[in-house]
Amino acid sequence: MAAFNILVLPGDGIGTEVMAEVERLIDWFNGQGIARFEVERGLVGGAAYDAHGEAISEETMAHALASDAVMFGAVGGPKWDGVPYDKRPEAALLRLRKDLGLFANLRPAICYPALADASTLKRELVEGLDILIVRELTGGVYFGEPKEIVDLGNGQKRAVDTQVYQTYEIERIARVAFELARTRRNKVTSSDKKNVMKSGVLWDEVVRDLHRRDYADVQFEHILADNCGMQLVRAPKQFDVIVTDNLFGDMLSDVAAMLTGSLGMLPSASLGAPDEKTGRRKSMYEPVHGSAPDIAGKGIANPIATIASFGMALRYSFGLGEWADKLDVAIANVLDQGLRTRDIMQPGMREVSTTQMGEAIARELAALGG
Ligand code: IPM
Ligand code: MN
Repeated sequence: MAAFNILVLPGDGIGTEVMAEVERLIDWFNGQGIARFEVERGLVGGAAYDAHGEAISEETMAHALASDAVMFGAVGGPKWDGVPYDKRPEAALLRLRKDLGLFANLRPAICYPALADASTLKRELVEGLDILIVRELTGGVYFGEPKEIVDLGNGQKRAVDTQVYQTYEIERIARVAFELARTRRNKVTSSDKKNVMKSGVLWDEVVRDLHRRDYADVQFEHILADNCGMQLVRAPKQFDVIVTDNLFGDMLSDVAAMLTGSLGMLPSASLGAPDEKTGRRKSMYEPVHGSAPDIAGKGIANPIATIASFGMALRYSFGLGEWADKLDVAIANVLDQGLRTRDIMQPGMREVSTTQMGEAIARELAALGG
């Protein structure tokens, strides 16, 4: 039986509540003898700052580097608004992404049939939606230098962020997008702002080149990022895989999330390059939503994004794709049965707590597995 080390970092706010539902599933997989998951837990974000004065300790970073997968909840909250910039909760997330080399961020937006009416868009626009945003995660304006605010001494300040990409960074993320498209509807849309940005000109050149050389069988389109945002709310089903940079990917994936009914539904996987010897990739899995301090501690958060993120771990890190499929079916079935957390509650449905939703999905999975 394959053994894997999982580092669980629940973080802040609803992070701890939704992650408890993933731990329930991990225990179930262990109990069934489907895999052997060794779980380590750590603090991250505000919780780590309160304990050690850092958003993530060196010890936890070392555990992350040694793990097969990190399960990340969410970080941040008003309590830490005043902490120094380099110690803010988000700094931990950015450091994990950077130091683990997690350049490929996969953000699928799937509209479960039962939720087609929960979206703010009309049913016919989102019913059956299944798109995948492939976001570059370790480059661009998030990490480019210089990144600073300079006091000009005349009562003015100047703030600088740097958008920078090299050929290899664009090529490796585009390769991930083309490979994944081949397993889906075989279409890639590349999004940038080449009409105003040099980094966009290079982005487009590199992606087109790679397409011509290695992926001519995949349908390819270019779209400017502003138009992409518009098209996502106008006719989202035209897309299959969208590949884009770190900042545009951040924004476009929030837009895509709302197509699915709630931000509480969107999972993500962040992957590094495969290890030359073992073939294993460093990886981290996290819901796209944040720590939602306004509803933390109430037991009403939607655990589906985090559970579906664990499903992505089953697929991409643990070689358990058939269990990932079963988990997706379990989620769809529970929604079909009318169970809803508050964020996706609709008339005539049954409102359940975070724990009840987690239990129902685990029960459904057990039924499918048996
Ligand atoms: C996300 C988040 C992060 C990002 C924040 C918390 C730093 O919005 O994962 O989309 O901007 O990447
Ligand atoms: Mn975001």
